[in-house]
Amino acid sequence: MATPPTGRHPNPYRPGFNQTPLVFAGRTGILDAANEALEVAAFDGRTPRPLILVGPRGVGKTVTLGEIAQAAAEQHSWPTVHVEAKRSDLLGELSGKLRAAEQLFRGTTPDGPAHRTRITGAKVQASVLGVGGGIEVARDEGSPEPLATVLRRTMTAAVERDAGLLVTLDELQNATPAELHELGGVLQETVPENWPLVVAVAALPSLREKRGNRLPTYLERAEWHPLDALPGPDARTALTGPADRSGRPMTDEAADLLLAQSGGYPYAIQVAGHFAWRASHGSDAITAAHATAALPRITADLDQLFLSRWEDASGREQEYLTALATAELTVDEPNGGQVAEVLGRPVKAVSYLRDRLIKKGTVYRSGAGGLHFITPGMGAWVRRRDAD
Ligand SMILES: Nc1ncnc2c1ncn2[C@@H]1O[C@H](COP(=O)(O)OP(=O)(O)OP(=O)(O)O)[C@@H](O)[C@H]1O
Ligand SMILES: [Mg+2]
Repeated sequence: MATPPTGRHPNPYRPGFNQTPLVFAGRTGILDAANEALEVAAFDGRTPRPLILVGPRGVGKTVTLGEIAQAAAEQHSWPTVHVEAKRSDLLGELSGKLRAAEQLFRGTTPDGPAHRTRITGAKVQASVLGVGGGIEVARDEGSPEPLATVLRRTMTAAVERDAGLLVTLDELQNATPAELHELGGVLQETVPENWPLVVAVAALPSLREKRGNRLPTYLERAEWHPLDALPGPDARTALTGPADRSGRPMTDEAADLLLAQSGGYPYAIQVAGHFAWRASHGSDAITAAHATAALPRITADLDQLFLSRWEDASGREQEYLTALATAELTVDEPNGGQVAEVLGRPVKAVSYLRDRLIKKGTVYRSGAGGLHFITPGMGAWVRRRDAD
């Protein structure tokens, strides 16, 4: 690595997705629940219910899964198998990584092409078993084994090593109903085995929306944790923590200004911190003047996020989004009927727009049936846009 020039102060904020923050704030309820699940599995010989984190984009689902993985490694020396559901083959990828975990437990992690599992592709984190950081695996070419078989072998190997396994499944709303069904079935069957296995899932709220395809019982009975904006004091910690730690503290006035802009939305907090840090280049504190100078940059960055969602919508869908944003002004959680009212159309005539926007991941429906923008702050952006 090149030596940085002296006096360089790297920006301690992590705007973006899947970026571990320098200071992870709040979420103690979820972390406590995860720690309890890990202890139950590690010490009491019971397989706990899975944890499911659901929430809109950018609230920190993925980084919270990462915190749980860290707890598993630090407190129990357990490795984590992490899989992100994309448009393809969730179960195949999970099997491949479980096999790699089995080899870790057996101490036979291969390092040459002659072995069945090659090192590339997907990551199995194994801080414990002598393999730092993580290894990458490619699925072997042999005939596919059922997930249940692979899981059994992996967990048998784990138990022999007196270890356990954390499985984190991200973006599970992308899984097909068939995949969810098979996954739920396999995991459900493992419960009586009392393996030291903890499953933590993250998904957009649309995971609940698998209408017509009811969620497998295993997931329905899970411990559901809704994630939303960080409450005031945690939002402040997330914003001021990285600056404090990096020796350029943020004044209260600066923090007030930036929090007024970002609310408790974790993604926006990192963006706000990032531009405020940059604006304070050469100073030994981030002041209100720096925060004020950064505000237009922060707005522009967040607007880009809303714009990409907006441009992804058709003309009709944009009308629906505008009506939703308008309805938000008078009702806390407008439902489909109230949005249709703003549009002056019968509900049935516009419900297909709602369904399409839910499918695209622009809008979600809460348990109570209220509609929300998946990206926090988008309603206000749509109203501003409409006013211009
Ligand atoms: N508790 C937290 N404290 C500080 N920063 C956080 C926290 N949670 C999330 N962040 C920051 O917010 C941003 C978004 O986090 P993350 O990618 O985990 O969100 P997500 O919910 O998984 O989003 P998506 O639904 O798009 O996958 C990242 O920059 C991350 O560092
Ligand atoms: Mg994520």
